[in-house]
Amino acid sequence: MSKFDDVTEHLRGRQYRWLVTGAAGFIGSNLVQALLALGQRVTGLDNFATGYRHNLDQVRAIVGAQAWADFQFIEGDIRDAATCARACEGVDFVLHEAALGSVSRSIEDPQRTHDTNVNGFVNMLLAARDARVRRFVYAASSSTYGDHPGLPKVEDQIGKPLSPYAVTKYVNELYADVFARCYGIETIGLRYFNVFGPRQDPQGAYAAVIPQWVAAMVADKPVTINGDGETSRDFCFIDNVVQANVLAALAPAGAANQVYNVALNERTSLNQLYQMMRALLLPRFPHLQDKQPQYKDFRAGDVRHSQADITRARELLGYAPTHRIDAGLREAMDWYVQHLASASQCAGSQAR
Ligand SMILES: NC(=O)c1ccc[n+]([C@@H]2O[C@H](COP(=O)([O-])OP(=O)(O)OC[C@H]3O[C@@H](n4cnc5c(N)ncnc54)[C@H](O)[C@@H]3O)[C@@H](O)[C@H]2O)c1
Repeated sequence: MSKFDDVTEHLRGRQYRWLVTGAAGFIGSNLVQALLALGQRVTGLDNFATGYRHNLDQVRAIVGAQAWADFQFIEGDIRDAATCARACEGVDFVLHEAALGSVSRSIEDPQRTHDTNVNGFVNMLLAARDARVRRFVYAASSSTYGDHPGLPKVEDQIGKPLSPYAVTKYVNELYADVFARCYGIETIGLRYFNVFGPRQDPQGAYAAVIPQWVAAMVADKPVTINGDGETSRDFCFIDNVVQANVLAALAPAGAANQVYNVALNERTSLNQLYQMMRALLLPRFPHLQDKQPQYKDFRAGDVRHSQADITRARELLGYAPTHRIDAGLREAMDWYVQHLASASQCAGSQAR
């Protein structure tokens, strides 16, 4: 029996209240879904900056009316301290996902990224401290490794950040650490690498590479790779991320006040990713038979390679990823095709 099995069994017998910020987003809505399916009470907070009501509608349809009755939603902004305080009332565990993602967006609009990702983060930490929550688990990022050349990435060896987004995510880690020292709050930062799966937004200039490519492939639009395609990432299926969050919330106190890599310890180049996705879609979309990507310049702020060492998460959290990239792509592809067929964008890559 895995640690995750133990923890989910515990949750089935005990109801806690969880606050998921960014609940209408990709990762947040998947967390809400998993927690409701485990019989938990969940508060969701989101201002729909980049998330969607239809993500929550999908969760409701999947979990059913009975589980949905345990969900309450606050439409609000983490930049507002009073909203954060209200959202934390009576909460056992916070899973803080709300942020403005994307390296490129942060380069174009560093102020808004800072306001949300740093000021909003501190508001949430203060609210969690004042509400005496059991633990504050937050979305950190592989972008914190910045220009450190080492591979695989080990938590304690980081370089200089390469974008405003990366600065904000690193500052989150510093604040979480200082709040643990000064106020005794328990925090865990999960450094996600490139996460993919259902409800990941394919739209807009800042969309992630996999949903963008599915949309472009299905619509027979150009698929663009920034650079030579040998840029690599440790792509991580959403179920692994959900597992890490639940484990982090319930891990013993000795595991708290640290950051953990969450990925697979595997490296897939963009060229390999393209071929995997094309092969999966080909039976349904014969026009992909001879389709080739288009290559353009490398993009500012992108790191060349990314791969996680996940030893710490394995040892201290009991993290055991269930989906490698091919299994995750197979599982996500139906959803992508069903929901993305109308969308089509050119694509890029970035460490998230
Ligand atoms: N997806 C990845 O590969 C990845 C990788 C590393 C880190 N992360 C981090 O994981 C978290 C979730 O990312 P995601 O991919 O689900 O992105 P997402 O954009 O789908 O979700 C973020 C959610 O936060 C909400 N939000 C933004 N600003 C807000 C504000 N001021 N107040 C309240 N809600 C606000 C958005 O509306 C959205 O629903 C983010 O913190 C992101 O930085 C994601």
